[in-house]
Amino acid sequence: MICPGFIDIHNHLPQHAFAGIGEKELLPWLKKYVFPREKMFKNKEVAKESAKRFFEDLIENGTTTTLTYTTIHPSATDIAFECANKSKIRAILGKVMMDQNSPSFLTEKTQESLRSLLELIDKWHGFDGRLFYALTPRFAITCSMELMKEIGEIARLKDVYVQTHLSENQEEIKFIRALFPKCKNYTDVYNQAGLLGPKTIMTHAIHLNDEEIRLLKTSKTKIAHCPTSNRFLTSGIMSFRKYNKKGLEMGLGTDVAGGYSLSMFNEMKEAIESSKCLYYFSEGKSGSPMTPSEAFYLATLGGAKALSMEHEIGSLEKGKKADFLIIDPQKIDPMKSHSIYTKPEQILSKLIYRGDRTCIKHVYSGGKKVK
Ligand code: GUN
Ligand code: FE
Repeated sequence: MICPGFIDIHNHLPQHAFAGIGEKELLPWLKKYVFPREKMFKNKEVAKESAKRFFEDLIENGTTTTLTYTTIHPSATDIAFECANKSKIRAILGKVMMDQNSPSFLTEKTQESLRSLLELIDKWHGFDGRLFYALTPRFAITCSMELMKEIGEIARLKDVYVQTHLSENQEEIKFIRALFPKCKNYTDVYNQAGLLGPKTIMTHAIHLNDEEIRLLKTSKTKIAHCPTSNRFLTSGIMSFRKYNKKGLEMGLGTDVAGGYSLSMFNEMKEAIESSKCLYYFSEGKSGSPMTPSEAFYLATLGGAKALSMEHEIGSLEKGKKADFLIIDPQKIDPMKSHSIYTKPEQILSKLIYRGDRTCIKHVYSGGKKVK
């Protein structure tokens, strides 16, 4: 079988090392696992080894395009771009920015934070038509309004992507309310900073009210839906059906290491199963769970649209970039080709639920074999 390469629109390169440890909820988890690990990326050897492994693992899992957070370190970010370039993956990467409420070893001076990234943008944004830059304010807790407003200015000036986290966890939301009393809600913080727009990808966006949904919709801001992470860190369940009905554009993100796996097969599965939970426990007859074809769309063409790359990737069509996977159907078929379950939707369902990296024989990026 041939299928488009998967598109993972949210993950964290440095966190790959502790994927599978989801102890406690977001804020204590950041303190205990995320920040100490990200500190290590000051060391260029750590940055290089980690980046190499990370892109290898993505490709092994059939992901041909990724939108990724690195760390606050410009050198580690430059190394990540170099490794992405060598791996032949299509990648949008961004140096994390944070200037408040962070440990001292991960806090930058606001102006320093801005200076270092212009060099990275000039060097890498558009490189080989395959590598791009995303301005990456970590989330509004760790970014001053001054920093976020400057980031908004640069985004417009340089026409680069913006990625950040929005409305993931209740404790996070409480903190945001206290930090930005003049803003109406969490989404309005980013709105007032000038960070919403068609090239902005907001991750999680679980606990939004109708006004926030409207803000995202009218600004054409995209959502990275991360169902594995949302469950793993006990953050909540995003209502795919509600957002889908309101016309929000979404893709899927593994959010490693908020999520425990870089596999988009796993992400599709989690997306459908968590949508069923929400349907069963709260949405009832007003909704309907996500279908396998909707999950597959999010992992391919939906992700491409979220990244404004739908003319190049996300489906198998003449004129596109030829990012695709060769899958061995026997690996997902317990009866080894004696199957009578040959309807497209049955094959797709099997692919999602029984697929993993071992069924991917080859991966092509831009027409070149990379696995
Ligand atoms: N919010 C701010 N930083 C992070 C992070 O590293 N992971 C997740 N899941 N949420 C965040
Ligand atoms: Fe994340």
